[in-house]
Amino acid sequence: MKVAVVGAGLMGSGIAQTFAQAGYEVVNIDTFASALEKAKANVDKLFDKKVAKGKITEEQKKEILGRLNYSGTIEDVKGAELVVEAVPEKIDLKKTIFAAIDEQADPDTIIVSNTSGLSISEIASATKRSNKVMGAHFFYPAPVMKLLELIRGIDTDDATYNKVKEIAGTIGKTTVDAPELPGFMVNRILVPMQNEAAFMVMEGCDPTDVDNAMKLGCNFPMGPLELTDFVGVDIMLGTMKGLYSGFCDSKYRPCPLLENMVKAGHLGKKSGQGFYKYDENGNKID
Ligand code: CAA
Repeated sequence: MKVAVVGAGLMGSGIAQTFAQAGYEVVNIDTFASALEKAKANVDKLFDKKVAKGKITEEQKKEILGRLNYSGTIEDVKGAELVVEAVPEKIDLKKTIFAAIDEQADPDTIIVSNTSGLSISEIASATKRSNKVMGAHFFYPAPVMKLLELIRGIDTDDATYNKVKEIAGTIGKTTVDAPELPGFMVNRILVPMQNEAAFMVMEGCDPTDVDNAMKLGCNFPMGPLELTDFVGVDIMLGTMKGLYSGFCDSKYRPCPLLENMVKAGHLGKKSGQGFYKYDENGNKID
């Protein structure tokens, strides 16, 4: 079965890798050649590490990467039974991309969005197959995190939901049914916590203390600020803004420090500076 993943950023390339690892033929599509090159280089590097660690053999690496193709044209969604969209979180962009996918994909193809909070029903309205559109929200890093949030739009039919749930099982993901509301399920709980952690830094707390508190006091694998740097300060702030505007509730007020960090280009690990500093390999500098 062929799967097309549209968007080759951090999420898109990880989702493409996830499907290729599970045995699917995958095409990862992005109109930016630089994004495709970066995605390919990152996936190659990850697999080199897996070989070096003895987790997989060189042959297995070649076999998996042989199933993972890259393309600069949306027409390559043709022949895919499932298309996963993972482009930036801008509703107009998503609608344009969905209309283009709808035009090129086979009539029975299911199209899912990896949006972390935008309206599935609105995205689906850009297509002529809104019954075959739903949300399938992966978590970063997509090949590692076991959860897939399933979000039905108003028109999503049972056949589409059941098929996506079945496919989720084949790639080793456990699903939860999340409501079509801002933040869905995880981000509605997680992101306000990260936001609160940023408020504490703004009030003078040391970032390492805040992260250690949550790692050692709650057994979190990463502290909330480390996680913000890992996912991207801009991405986290965008989600918080979505909660604030979507619920029209002041309890979701984004922390001003996050706004200033994004304006300054302190986007976390990817820019080398967030709550912490990073070297060119993404390792934290003390
Ligand atoms: N991409 C792909 N795989 C990655 C990765 C990445 N960026 N980072 C780590 N991995 C893989 C490694 O390859 C390794 O795989 P193998 O065991 O097969 O070699 C595995 O993850 C473990 O990596 P490490 O041993 O290097 O590191 P670790 O044990 O410290 O674990 C972690 C790293 C899995 C990221 C862990 O720290 C963790 O679970 N952190 C929390 C992540 C989290 O909360 N994610 C949710 C973010 S919120 C979100 O995604 C919502 C949204 O809408 C943006």
